[in-house]
Amino acid sequence: MEFEPTRAFAQELDQRDPLASFRQRFAIPDPDLIYLDGNSLGRPTLASAERLQRLMSEWERDLIRGYNKDWWHAPGRVGDKIGQLIGAAPGQVVACDTVSINLFKLAWAALSLRPGRPKIVTDALNFPSDLYILQGLTRLLGDRHTIVRIGSKDGDITPDLDALETAIDQSTAFVTLSHVTFKSGYLYDMAAVTELAHKRGALVIWDLSHSVGAVPIALDACNVDFAVGCTYKYLNGGPGSPAFLYVRKDLQEKVVSPIWGWWAQKNPFAFELDYVPAPGIARFLTGSQPAISLLTMEAALDPLLEAGMDALRAKSLLLSEYLIYLTGFFLAPLGFRLGSPRLQERRGSHVSIRHAEGYRINRALIEEMNVIPDFREPDNLRLGLAPLYTGFEDVWQGIDRIRRVVEEKRYEKYPHEKLTVT
Ligand SMILES: Cc1ncc(COP(=O)(O)O)c(C=O)c1O
Repeated sequence: MEFEPTRAFAQELDQRDPLASFRQRFAIPDPDLIYLDGNSLGRPTLASAERLQRLMSEWERDLIRGYNKDWWHAPGRVGDKIGQLIGAAPGQVVACDTVSINLFKLAWAALSLRPGRPKIVTDALNFPSDLYILQGLTRLLGDRHTIVRIGSKDGDITPDLDALETAIDQSTAFVTLSHVTFKSGYLYDMAAVTELAHKRGALVIWDLSHSVGAVPIALDACNVDFAVGCTYKYLNGGPGSPAFLYVRKDLQEKVVSPIWGWWAQKNPFAFELDYVPAPGIARFLTGSQPAISLLTMEAALDPLLEAGMDALRAKSLLLSEYLIYLTGFFLAPLGFRLGSPRLQERRGSHVSIRHAEGYRINRALIEEMNVIPDFREPDNLRLGLAPLYTGFEDVWQGIDRIRRVVEEKRYEKYPHEKLTVT
């Protein structure tokens, strides 16, 4: 599509957007706020607010009886709903715990399936918590494993795929990568990497945190072994909403979790003194789940399911192409350069633009321009595009306000010292 740099053109794109009406399903108290951080924390849906209120009444009325209604089985039920967004047939996904904890559980399980293989392959573009989890786990196991972290040849935008290909060999137990990387938004070819790992006898664990709800995913079709992901980004689950994990059906009876909690016991209310794993995916639960957060998040999934992943991806790509076009037009002359893949097939749903003053520009945008992006070291201004509610005019306004911050040197009054959350 031929873009134009005018605000009127952005409004025209919004009028033609088949998903435009989904914005009305969200609580948007300040229409002037340009929210470009849905890739960190999604906006609340009206359905979640309504569910939360109803949940309070249920809790008041039902008390412990609520568990026998729809609370106890919520992790599996919500997991199956998330499964519809990630190409997983029922019975393979549970919503629980955090991404970090779920990765720990699955990494341990993967190692137990490949006892003679001492190598774990990941990349330097991965979210640090994932790397910390691997480091902690290998320490716990007596430092018998080596973690190989492949790098990037283009300043952390694209992983070095040749190095990945070389690193995965007969000594590799598993490969774990973020499907979409958190800084540059690089989108891995899940089918190709999974096939490569399997050819060499290695397993895969995909972290879907930055792709679920934004990019079509086909876990079953790609024959993925394990996956984890969060629900507070594009799934709009709310701050700290539980994560999820996927274990392919045929692997479930071959592995157990390293954390043997009572929710993962075969018969939790028998209160037996010895652990016997529950059949199926439930064995990857641990203890009581945050029911309020879990059930509120469940309600937020409906708009995504109604919109459908193909339509969401089509809009997300148009949004990011448009953002990259406007960046080239307005911001490249002011010292910005693209920090995300130019090729749309290799891009998730956020775009990083880099500038030496990125941190202070981000600060000025938040403090005085009513724009919320975020900043990622060393110089990335990260702009998240959540296709359910981000409009084309939001993108135009966001870029226009960034232009003003730089042209008017508004960022200069902010200190270089960083706030706790950037
Ligand atoms: C790709 C990725 N993995 C893991 C995490 C950590 O998730 P959690 O805080 O649920 O452990 C995040 C958090 O933003 C993330 O972006």
